[in-house]
Amino acid sequence: MQHIFVLNGPNLNLLGSREPEIYGVETLEDIHQRMTAAANGAQITFRQTNSEGELVNLVQEASKAASVLIINAGAYTHTSIALHDALRACDAKIIEVHLSNPAAREDFRATNYVSPCATATIAGLGARGYLIALDAALQMTD
Ligand code: DQA
Repeated sequence: MQHIFVLNGPNLNLLGSREPEIYGVETLEDIHQRMTAAANGAQITFRQTNSEGELVNLVQEASKAASVLIINAGAYTHTSIALHDALRACDAKIIEVHLSNPAAREDFRATNYVSPCATATIAGLGARGYLIALDAALQMTD
């Protein structure tokens, strides 16, 4: 059975109430439920953390347990070399997701430490991006 990790970084626990005009009105729980419904028999592990070190720990866990890691690292995308190094060492294939399109926003979001480690990036499609990432993950075989 395919095992997919879905990791969300800082402030994504606030989805639904956080700047809904940018991030939409669906909660992270709504997104997880939609992904579970679309899992097609795959096992999905969902984790969210606001802590950089914990995100690194979870990437290391995904590397051992999962074939694909779907990650929205939130603002750590733009700041964390520790996360970049963990992703470089990760054995799972990586799909990066962003609800918004960081490239079309403030200049400080132009730096991205996740994309160079990812097979694919899906940005700007809101919650649908997670489902598109899942669909792609389900078609990735080792
Ligand atoms: C985000 C984009 C990041 O720039 C931002 O810091 C977030 C959310 C997104 O999903 O659009 O926290 O990753």
